[in-house]
Amino acid sequence: MIPTLTWTPEGVRFIDQTRLPLEESYVLATNYEQVADVIVTMVVRGAPAIGVSAAYGVALGALRSNAKTAEDFAPEFEKVCARLAGTRPTAVNLFWAIDRMKHLFGRLRSAGASMDQIRERFLAEAHAMYNEDIAACRSMGAFGGDLLPAEGGVLTHCNAGALATCGYGTALGVIRSAVEQGKKIRVYADETRPFLQGARLTAWELMEDGIDTTVICDNMAASLMRAGRIQAVVVGADRIAANGDFANKIGTYNVAILAKEHGIPFYVAAPWSTIDTATATGDAIPIEERNPVEVTHHGGRQLTPNGVGICNPAFDVTPASYVTAIITERGVLRAPFAESLQKMASDPVPA
Ligand code: MRU
Repeated sequence: MIPTLTWTPEGVRFIDQTRLPLEESYVLATNYEQVADVIVTMVVRGAPAIGVSAAYGVALGALRSNAKTAEDFAPEFEKVCARLAGTRPTAVNLFWAIDRMKHLFGRLRSAGASMDQIRERFLAEAHAMYNEDIAACRSMGAFGGDLLPAEGGVLTHCNAGALATCGYGTALGVIRSAVEQGKKIRVYADETRPFLQGARLTAWELMEDGIDTTVICDNMAASLMRAGRIQAVVVGADRIAANGDFANKIGTYNVAILAKEHGIPFYVAAPWSTIDTATATGDAIPIEERNPVEVTHHGGRQLTPNGVGICNPAFDVTPASYVTAIITERGVLRAPFAESLQKMASDPVPA
């Protein structure tokens, strides 16, 4: 399994996604500040992976604290949570994971737990989130794999794979599952400017699994669709609003429009922790604006003239009307998403 993030006795070990595919190296975060740094610099990225990383960050905050009691630790705990929550604004999984740790702390504090018990329970909760994430990806894969054609081209954008989760992936989990079912899938991976998650990461991890993969530049999708080479699109999500609008890597909206124009099904695969029913529509999703240097430079080389204006939103919002189905670990949702999401939210969670 691809070791996206691994707990060790010293802290969390991350595969360095800024260096893939040419170099497989690792970064060890031994305290919560280092976890926050690896999230900001995108050593680790992808909505589910940064959520679980933040949970381990909170656990490291407790493990490294000298506080003797929960009361002493409370102000430090707030600081740790605020630092981790301030890393990236769009993926709701980050806030979901931190809120889960906050609820746990609240319960332990009211029960009079000792610091040793808090440390142990925090780490156990982060491990539980890690394992739940892999199980959710497997379940999404099983539901979504059935939706893909027996044979054909599947386009994906960014990296919603093992590298964006604790293992197996969301959109790439759906593809992996279809391939495991014996379907003859050729993956087209958008290169995904400017950070090149598709060209570097999706291509790398699918090649590791021996899955037929072709990288295309972001501006080639329309032409391939018109030529009949794409039979389905499957992408991940960073946040799904209550009406089914969703934020994902910049450029996803372009792909959705193209898919609709060409009558190609467009699937979104995401765990329940990506669904944000407190956000009514996609217009209210905060979109991260990243450093212009990611656009002006590549591999240390300048591409644009000095002083030119640069725009670098990391995500865009695709309206629900472009989505054929949302694949979650609890099942497949169809339009109208406001109703189907609400119904699934109130259904008992499958064991
Ligand atoms: O900026 P990134 O690389 O963190 O963006 C990642 C994406 O947009 C993914 O598609 C999304 O997080 C889903 S990952 C399972």
